[in-house]
Amino acid sequence: MEEPVTQKSICMLINGKDREFEVQPNELLVDVLREKLGLTGTKTGCEAGDCGACTVLINGKPTLSCLTLAIDCHGKEILTIEGLGDAEKGELHPLQKSFVEHYGVQCGFCTPAMILTAKALLDKNPNPDEHEIREAINGVICRCTGYVQIVESIQAAAKAESRPMTEDIQAGRSDLE
Ligand code: FES
Ligand code: FES
Repeated sequence: MEEPVTQKSICMLINGKDREFEVQPNELLVDVLREKLGLTGTKTGCEAGDCGACTVLINGKPTLSCLTLAIDCHGKEILTIEGLGDAEKGELHPLQKSFVEHYGVQCGFCTPAMILTAKALLDKNPNPDEHEIREAINGVICRCTGYVQIVESIQAAAKAESRPMTEDIQAGRSDLE
């Protein structure tokens, strides 16, 4: 007779909040995020590691949540698209704004994964060139945009992020004053 599968209690820091819940040992992170926590910004596409739509950041690294067991994320930090921007103030993250302004969003299915992947890139490399951007997002498939607007959105967000510092320097201000 088959042994009953035992639930395990795990905790994660999800979008800046400590969350504790029970999971089956074989439960996938994407299912926990979408079905247990209602974080449906993370999409399910191929469910086989091919499309990238389920990408979230785990400890800052883009990771396919359809190939990740929730139990393996115990004690880790997860960022989903819902964790970007400031929901209380109704403010978008600069990457989200840039995707809207530069037409990087069409049907929107790949957008959460694209934006999170771009965030991980810009956190490591604030001024990536086009080749570096294309390399970073090559695991996420977009069926709509042809990628040109997505690359432009990421480039524009990178410029916008670096602008305040440049303007401060041009205006002769710095943290040292
Ligand atoms: S759903 Fe396609 S890679 Fe995860
Ligand atoms: S905007 Fe439709 S899949 Fe990328």
